[in-house]
Amino acid sequence: MTRPFRVTVQPGAASFEVQPEESVLDAALRQGVPLAHECTFGGCGTCRVALLEGQVRYDEWPLALSDGEAAAGFALMCQARACSDLVIDAEPRPAGAAEPVHTRAVVRAVTPVTDSVIHLELELPDLPALQYVPGQHLNILLGDGVHRSFSMASAPAGHRVDLHVRRIPGGHFTDGVLPQLQPGAVLEVELPLGRFHCRTQDYRPLLMVATGTGIAPIKSMLEALLDDPDCPPVWLYWGMRDERDLYLDELLRSWQGRLYEFSYVPVLSRAGSGWTGRRGHVQQAVLEDLPDLSEHGIYLCGSPAMIAEAKQAFVQHGADPRHLHADGFSFQQADHTSVAIA
Ligand code: FES
Repeated sequence: MTRPFRVTVQPGAASFEVQPEESVLDAALRQGVPLAHECTFGGCGTCRVALLEGQVRYDEWPLALSDGEAAAGFALMCQARACSDLVIDAEPRPAGAAEPVHTRAVVRAVTPVTDSVIHLELELPDLPALQYVPGQHLNILLGDGVHRSFSMASAPAGHRVDLHVRRIPGGHFTDGVLPQLQPGAVLEVELPLGRFHCRTQDYRPLLMVATGTGIAPIKSMLEALLDDPDCPPVWLYWGMRDERDLYLDELLRSWQGRLYEFSYVPVLSRAGSGWTGRRGHVQQAVLEDLPDLSEHGIYLCGSPAMIAEAKQAFVQHGADPRHLHADGFSFQQADHTSVAIA
């Protein structure tokens, strides 16, 4: 009979056993070791850790792990099977983020901003325990263990949070629950969650790349940098289908002068004939402008396909996987959810 392997988690030296056929994440959770995760099928990257010792294998190569990341020693715990004892470096909760708690939020406004995006404004209890870091997300708890995850789109200020909800036709939350929500309604929520956050202490120029409502956590991170004298240069690329989708265009343009050396580039994949801006895929536009990414701190948020392609291409253009962070949408549920990776 094959013996189990031992996994040691740094920092902190928690350890647990893993059977050769189970994922490292399953083994950790079974034994009460709380490794960060979200989709559990290799699509979001939340469970990425640095593999300090040992080897893992994958039954199928996970979408959220690029060759470059694997070569740099990263692994996805929800898909990895241990081939030996392991020592992993699991990034701790971002500095300043509170422990996640369950609480109640009051709906303050439900405002459609495009045909498919709804701005949901919530008021949270005024508790220090809810302190989040820009880039983190919350879960709306729908009962029976079902939840939907949404990134906070606003920088922490007071106890209101903005969420950008992409409507999915037939989605349990977006088509079932959301249309019934009126101001004053109460939602069960869990927050703050996730490891996606801006590492300004790296002193690297920032490259932020989003598609769709993936702009939400990036908006939160950039709002927190407005008028900051230590703000590094910022490039922001936002990929959408057509002009009608650019629901934050005016706001983002207004940040010129409030972020240091700020370049904002909307990129449309199906622009109308009147569009004079950039066309195509957002990651291609980045590489046309920035062929050498070796100095950048890179933050990706959007569809798994964009993130997978961007990671692959950006590493080929010099990006360092240690400074490349992603927050992928998870499609395991009928509703769109934007979830964190770090
Ligand atoms: Fe592992 Fe999403 S939890 S990739």
